[in-house]
Amino acid sequence: MTATMPTPTAAQLTDPLHLIDVDHVQFYVGNAKQAAFFYAHCFGFQIEQVCDLTTGSRDATHYLLTQGNIRFLLTSALTAYHPAAMESAMFGDGVKDVAFTVFDATKAYERAVANGAESAYEPRVYRDEHGSVTVAAIKTYGRLVHTFVSRSGAYELAKVKLGGAFAPRFKRMEGGAGGSGVVSINEHNRKSPCGLKYVDHLVGNVELGQMNRWVKYYEDVLEFKMFMHFDEKDISTEYSALMSKVMSSGNGLIKMPINEPAAGKKKSQVQEYLDWHQNTPGVQHLALRTDDELHSIAALRGRGVDFLTLPEAYYENVWKRVDAMLTAHGHTPVREDHEAVKRLGILVDSDDEGYLLQLFTKPLQDRPTLFFEIICRRGAQSFGKGNFKALFEALELEQDRRGNL
Ligand code: FE2
Repeated sequence: MTATMPTPTAAQLTDPLHLIDVDHVQFYVGNAKQAAFFYAHCFGFQIEQVCDLTTGSRDATHYLLTQGNIRFLLTSALTAYHPAAMESAMFGDGVKDVAFTVFDATKAYERAVANGAESAYEPRVYRDEHGSVTVAAIKTYGRLVHTFVSRSGAYELAKVKLGGAFAPRFKRMEGGAGGSGVVSINEHNRKSPCGLKYVDHLVGNVELGQMNRWVKYYEDVLEFKMFMHFDEKDISTEYSALMSKVMSSGNGLIKMPINEPAAGKKKSQVQEYLDWHQNTPGVQHLALRTDDELHSIAALRGRGVDFLTLPEAYYENVWKRVDAMLTAHGHTPVREDHEAVKRLGILVDSDDEGYLLQLFTKPLQDRPTLFFEIICRRGAQSFGKGNFKALFEALELEQDRRGNL
């Protein structure tokens, strides 16, 4: 996905499943107000809009957080019967919905259902005098749904990106007497940005033996293609393993690797996730793209984000491995200051198209479930295969500390 997608072709304009953008990622959380402060303080998001009792929402509160072209919708229940109440009790905080902007949500939904999707809910329209937002959703693995969103009038996505209301009943945070104190956090974040631009990929964990079922689902229902795959030979250590297939939307807007656990001497990280997620599949990590990994990681560390720590030996071989591959393919070596990369604990990998820098947070909530990856691509379109072994050894250490290995 790029921050600004190219103008769609005539064929795409008539394709109901042409994905224009990641409209938003919705999290179900126990307390949206407090979660909003966490993501604003630690990751630099703007707490931009709210939909709550004061705007006429009687069953749930939604905070819209934005940074670059990332839109997070944090939802918590105001009643015991809202699905966010039940799901946050079952799963803890996590991702509920990865929503896609399309030209016509009803047509996208109908096509997906005709392709074999299970419906989450039928098309519904939220409308006021300013415009409308049409949504319809399909189920995918575990608790996750994909909502199709089409927008008109003041709610067109281009206007939302410029600060327009996200949907009817959303209002902007305003300061001043009687206003919200979050405007001072927003002001701080504008002055000290973390540089996160958009969702590069998102990874799902499914149960043993279920990966290929969900690969076929994305191929059939959303007409995605398999981009690459990894087996236990690629992703294993002495103790634990997993398998992964990367699904990509037709236009490359979004990549969605799907993992399943593989047999190892000890417990796979995918199985640990499932054990703490009611044995229900869900999103394991969101990769957020930056153009400047060193700046973003330094900023996030300064704000208190905890990242995985790599074994010391990692940096003994990394430059030889990465720069040798780059040189062999006619690319210039890694341009970032090598000492700064090491000091910030960043991982580096290369493929035949270039290199990437990446780093993974520790879990974002009490349960060892959802985490973020902060990724910067310098040509490489892969996922850091050269880092898998070191990374999984670091993850095993964490699993062991939690008593889950
Ligand atoms: Fe990733």
